Amino acid sequence: MSNGDSTVPLLAARDLTKAHGRTEALRGASVELRAGEILAVTGTSGSGKSTLLHCLAGIVRPDAGSVTYDGQRLDQLPQKRLSELRRTDFGVVFQFGQLVPELTVLDNVALPLMLAGAARKEAQAAAGEWLERFGVRGQEALRPGELSGGQAQRTALARALVTGPRVVFADEPTGALDSLATEQVMTSLVHTAREAGTAVLLITHDAQVAAYADREVRLSDGAVLPVGVTA
Ligand SMILES: Nc1ncnc2c1ncn2[C@@H]1O[C@H](COP(=O)(O)OP(=O)(O)OP(=O)(O)O)[C@@H](O)[C@H]1O
Ligand SMILES: [Mg+2]
Repeated sequence: MSNGDSTVPLLAARDLTKAHGRTEALRGASVELRAGEILAVTGTSGSGKSTLLHCLAGIVRPDAGSVTYDGQRLDQLPQKRLSELRRTDFGVVFQFGQLVPELTVLDNVALPLMLAGAARKEAQAAAGEWLERFGVRGQEALRPGELSGGQAQRTALARALVTGPRVVFADEPTGALDSLATEQVMTSLVHTAREAGTAVLLITHDAQVAAYADREVRLSDGAVLPVGVTA
């Protein structure tokens, strides 16, 4: 199914609640992402940003509320269909890396294409181009443990974009980068997203990064506030 009407959100969360043990990470969070939109989600540490991203990306099921993606209830999809959809439509950059330690940098980026059925050689060629685009050169044969934090983040971004997803979820993708590298990586990310019409949900505490977004919302105590309103 496609979503040609840009006034209808591609992805929408309504009244999400999610507890981790006794901590209520989300308390009625609602947010919408339109096709091709770059949305920044900001908020203090512990306000629920990563939890919100995990619920929107179908990685974590909310306790209550709904997540609708392209007309279907993501929070109600059977696990197998959810996994398939995540593989074809979503790319995720996790806050804490999650590259596969045993694989080379090149194969980490090639992996999503191979899981989608591409031959290894073609997948590696495409992976090399994406690494180049994000400024990771000469490190293709290394393992993730041998990378700097910034190189690992760039590799994770390349991996999230390599399949041409409709939505990229990026959790502090520039957290380990200095100001110049942040600018380079954000320019590449935004250029790629605009070119391909990819929607981006971008978690950041950095105003320099949020400035690349079309719109910004702020999480406070597990709920979403319009920016400009302080709790
Ligand atoms: N796996 C978990 N087990 C227990 N508590 C958790 C877990 N994950 C998150 N929490 C708690 O839920 C709340 C929200 O966490 P979350 O990671 O969503 O915040 P965040 O806004 O992403 O923070 P940060 O900016 O530090 O990454 C926090 O109080 C956190 O301690
Ligand atoms: Mg977080």
